[in-house]
Amino acid sequence: MARMKDNPLAVTNEVRAGSAAGLRGGRLLGYALAATALSLAYMVFEAQWVRCRQADLPVPGLPHPWSGLTILHLSDIHAGEFLTNRRSLAKAVRWAKKLTPDLVLLTGDILGDTERSEPYVKLLAELRPSLGAFAVTGNHEYGLGKAPLAEPRDATDLWTKAGITLLTDQCVTLPTRNGHRINLCGADYISGGYGLLEDGAIPPGFSILLIHDPPGAGSPLAARFPLGFAGHTHGGQLRVPSPSGLIPLHMKGDEYLGGIHRWGLGQLVVSNGIGTSFLPLRLLTRPEATLWRLVYTSCEHPAQADESK
Ligand SMILES: [Fe+2]
Repeated sequence: MARMKDNPLAVTNEVRAGSAAGLRGGRLLGYALAATALSLAYMVFEAQWVRCRQADLPVPGLPHPWSGLTILHLSDIHAGEFLTNRRSLAKAVRWAKKLTPDLVLLTGDILGDTERSEPYVKLLAELRPSLGAFAVTGNHEYGLGKAPLAEPRDATDLWTKAGITLLTDQCVTLPTRNGHRINLCGADYISGGYGLLEDGAIPPGFSILLIHDPPGAGSPLAARFPLGFAGHTHGGQLRVPSPSGLIPLHMKGDEYLGGIHRWGLGQLVVSNGIGTSFLPLRLLTRPEATLWRLVYTSCEHPAQADESK
């Protein structure tokens, strides 16, 4: 019996089979590369696909004269990290400034180093809310991000330029309306806001908390504030579909990933944020800018019942 290599026909068939398999493999690799490129392109697109929305937020215990207060909530802008973050902020600012919010609340991871933050500062300064813009620090303001060369930054001049008041375990009281006061209290990232729990730290009145990392329902802050705004989670930033639902790849274990949550006796609003960190990508968690309109309801928050004036 002739060996295969001595049979020219068999050798030809073997070569043909080999090249067909090679072609198939090459085609599969091409498909895989194309699918990866398309997925990455989509995720870069989604990172700039800002969900700008207006929504009513019924708030038990809100003093009636403050019903209708509009709050633009922005979080996790991550200035200077990626061009996508700047584009997203520009879209949000273009949209929000036409709506003339009463307040702008920024819940941490906002400004980066001086030079790269300048364009963001200019954008934020365009908002000019009638009652002011207030911010708290996030981990990135302290250089506690994933970037290996991150450093703490003193961004005092940038906050001032942007027209933003930074609250580090401090409260400000808004001008009284019909004898009713609202306080805005900002938690410092490092202290976790525990400085606000000291005697006399929170003035009488209805108090709203700004905090970067959403505290759990068992936190003493939840017992003290009927309403809180937070960020930090980026909504999971990348969420992968699975048979058991969407699995977040960022902040996987967090109690609150995004949206409105019952929180102690009140509620906590957690933003997906505007920017991204580590990678300029999002999947099934669009960046968001929300203009909330606080709405009076007849129920009083137990912690505020005796001090609404
Ligand atoms: Fe962040």
